[in-house]
Amino acid sequence: LLELKNKDRIVRILTNKTQKVGKTSLIMSLVSEEFPDEVPLRAEEITIPADVTPERVPTHIVDYSEAEQSEEQLYQEISKANVICIVYSVNSKKSIEKVTSHWIPLINDRTDKDSRVPLILVGNKSDLVEHSSMETILPIMNQFQDIETCVECSAKNLKNISELFYYAQKAVLHPTGPLYCPEEKE
Ligand code: GTP
Ligand code: MG
Repeated sequence: LLELKNKDRIVRILTNKTQKVGKTSLIMSLVSEEFPDEVPLRAEEITIPADVTPERVPTHIVDYSEAEQSEEQLYQEISKANVICIVYSVNSKKSIEKVTSHWIPLINDRTDKDSRVPLILVGNKSDLVEHSSMETILPIMNQFQDIETCVECSAKNLKNISELFYYAQKAVLHPTGPLYCPEEKE
């Protein structure tokens, strides 16, 4: 059990502090099952007990705030993580660009080639757009083998939030080779 506990730390990563992609809101929405109107910059580390998680393992969720934490703290969290969710906002091209220009290289630089952590691309704020970001995301998924899956969600509508955490647990416990990209459920 202890080992498992250590195996499923989830780190959630921002894009840019000016871009406010909704990392903290996603965590709060998962935990309270409602969208918080106001959130702190960074959610406190949360441990979800095994019996209420889809894969029945205790899961730590770690938020990151560029405004509150140093790069050094980020690197430490990356080295402890078993899966990293890179959050972008589906209505912000800039935040999508930063996934490949900034976050994936930063994470790869900080992890051993043989012990890479699975990555999940999370497109938040799907309530704000009509069109899916998948067209832009699929080439990125094909380019970077460490990306386990991608999901579009909305902290506001609580859409795909529990799915996101299920994918994150699954990526740690049952990593898959082939890419799986869930279609938007209408
Ligand atoms: P930093 O900690 O500053 O890097 O930001 P963050 O990524 O944690 O984002 P945060 O959760 O603070 O949300 C930023 C803004 O986006 C807030 O005004 C939220 O209410 C809003 N927001 C978050 N999620 C959603 C969503 O799914 N839909 C919409 N429409 N707004 C959202
Ligand atoms: Mg935050």
